[in-house]
Amino acid sequence: MGIQIEKATQTRFDSIDWKNLGFGRYFSDHMFISFYRDGKWDDGKIVPYGPICFEPSMMTLHYGQTIFEGLKAYYDVNGGVNLFRPEMNAKRMQSSAERLCIPPFDVEKFIEAIIELIKLDHKFVPKVKGESLYIRPVCFGSSCFLGVHPSQEYTFIIITSPVASYYPEGLNPVKILIEDQFVRVVRGGLGMAKTAANYAASLYAGQRAKEKGFSQVLWLDGIHHEFVDEVGAMNIMFVIDDILITPPLTQGTILPGVTRDSVLHLARQMGIKVQERSIKIQEVLEAYERGTLQEVFGTGTAATISPVGKLYYRDKELIINNNQIGPIAQKMYDTLTGLQHGIIKDTYNWIIHIDV
Ligand code: COI
Repeated sequence: MGIQIEKATQTRFDSIDWKNLGFGRYFSDHMFISFYRDGKWDDGKIVPYGPICFEPSMMTLHYGQTIFEGLKAYYDVNGGVNLFRPEMNAKRMQSSAERLCIPPFDVEKFIEAIIELIKLDHKFVPKVKGESLYIRPVCFGSSCFLGVHPSQEYTFIIITSPVASYYPEGLNPVKILIEDQFVRVVRGGLGMAKTAANYAASLYAGQRAKEKGFSQVLWLDGIHHEFVDEVGAMNIMFVIDDILITPPLTQGTILPGVTRDSVLHLARQMGIKVQERSIKIQEVLEAYERGTLQEVFGTGTAATISPVGKLYYRDKELIINNNQIGPIAQKMYDTLTGLQHGIIKDTYNWIIHIDV
């Protein structure tokens, strides 16, 4: 038996400014919701998108036991809709769940719920290249209790949102501040989990950087402020001396990005030299001085591929590739979006196609 569906009686479609989607402002007609009670997840159901009701003592409001995911549905140029590697998101949500003491949600169920939602709300998938239906699963402790321990009950919800690019710059290069005072995560902390705490920790420095005209900050390691971690909304990649370098997952301080993994896979296949290794900010500065820092770009589901045109470190400005997108970032963007929109044949088994 499929997922039980309660259809919306009114559509939100006409209230959306389709020419100015922005990111995360609009929501489609339905959402999936499932509850964990008495030691098990229920079957879940699809209901009209709308407010949910909780008591003020709900634990996640106080102690932040919450995790989320981000993936996208893309229109396929040959008809239908494509999901990109949803299994990776489902599995990453399970590992975030483990770190936050949340009972894992089943991988097949996660994908099935998304497919059913997309079938129902496929008209919300934008038909413009570079736009998509962003899918946001979120799971949180929903017992009502004030002692500090893992919740007994949980709520899992999937909502969807038609979006354009995450940064207003689109594929134009962004300006990033290298943060050398505040920290987002430390080794042994929550950096590898997609949990609200990491984003809460980033807000203050991010806000200060915005006031100074930066898109975001690049985080350094939480102890020495020496090694590069990530940008928060995206992983970071450098091209130095024709080698694509990105921080490793082994320190547990960065998110194992789906786009990060896909770019590394594609790069290796394209014959680009790849190094997943710790990289000091000093090495980046020295490469810039030598003229061997060719490209910097971010990778993320929301951000897709986001070239970095200007990096600021203390009183130093680094202008990367004349503030233009570089050839590797461009190639990655074209290949990824080509696969996602069905323009390039998927030989990787990354796409789940949905007939609508
Ligand atoms: C994503 O890339 O999906 C993210 O979750 C980043 C950001 C919107 C929080």
